Amino acid sequence: MRKRTVPTDVREQLLTSARKVMKNAHAPYSKFRVGAAILTTSGEIFSGCNVENASYGMTNCAERTAIFSAVAQLGPRIEIRAVAVTNDQGVPCAPCGACRQVIYEFGPDAIIFFQGAKGPKQAHIKELLPEGFRLQ
Ligand code: THU
Repeated sequence: MRKRTVPTDVREQLLTSARKVMKNAHAPYSKFRVGAAILTTSGEIFSGCNVENASYGMTNCAERTAIFSAVAQLGPRIEIRAVAVTNDQGVPCAPCGACRQVIYEFGPDAIIFFQGAKGPKQAHIKELLPEGFRLQ
């Protein structure tokens, strides 16, 4: 796995986008608003929030909302370079297992910025999802 990151100003831009879109979350059940922003290798930023449903299992996490929005805009050949995740409660919040698999599909070399147990953290997707599934 390659060790790399993105420039500080770009990371801050991603976090700002994530915090902004977090306000649009539909989270009446958990009351836990999440925002995510992704950076594509082409330099574009897409953001998304969590969208819950009364049928709880249909909830879409912020990360997947952002990724699906990027695919809808640019098509399936996007590559994710980085992902930033924020929540409105300032608590640790790494992407869930399902989102890690979706990040991996479009960003096998992506770096993730999130709130860890001891503060802001960054991790490579392969650290978060060792041996991610791929059909090839
Ligand atoms: N959630 C996200 O959107 N992203 C994460 O990384 C963790 C969890 C959402 C799903 C649900 O709407 C709420 O947070 C509580 O689990």
